[in-house]
Amino acid sequence: MKIGIAADHGGFFLKQQVKEILEEQGFSVTDFGADELDPQDDYPDLVAPLARAVSVGLVDRGIAVCGSGVGAAIVANKFPRVRAALVTETYSARQGVEHDNMNLICLGGRVIGPELARELIFAFIKAHYTGEIRHQRRLKKLEKIEGQNFK
Ligand code: RB5
Repeated sequence: MKIGIAADHGGFFLKQQVKEILEEQGFSVTDFGADELDPQDDYPDLVAPLARAVSVGLVDRGIAVCGSGVGAAIVANKFPRVRAALVTETYSARQGVEHDNMNLICLGGRVIGPELARELIFAFIKAHYTGEIRHQRRLKKLEKIEGQNFK
């Protein structure tokens, strides 16, 4: 599984820890930046390249970190085929994939620590979309909305 990560200054340190955690486990990680802590950087500039990569299938899953995770989720969901959510507990990290085919998780670097981040990202990465009829039906409705709004 190819995993992309990105963060602004609010998520920079947690992103570095997430990268280490994933690489320790042998995952291929593409880091979309920031490459250094820059208190003046803006989360849309960092999260958009990651979301674009998820949108076009260059990476399978994305992990975006900003201070709260909110801005990252807002940016990521502007991209077609990206299903992103801010997640703070493991139930949603897993169930968001199983039911909603979530492909990008957003974390708050000022909200959670590295151990919770570890649990969240592995719950997210290990989960698979179940493809049950009711979930397919809901995703088709989302795709229809997306088709109407992304031209
Ligand atoms: C940056 O200071 C902060 O506003 C940003 O990382 C994020 O929390 C936005 O949602």
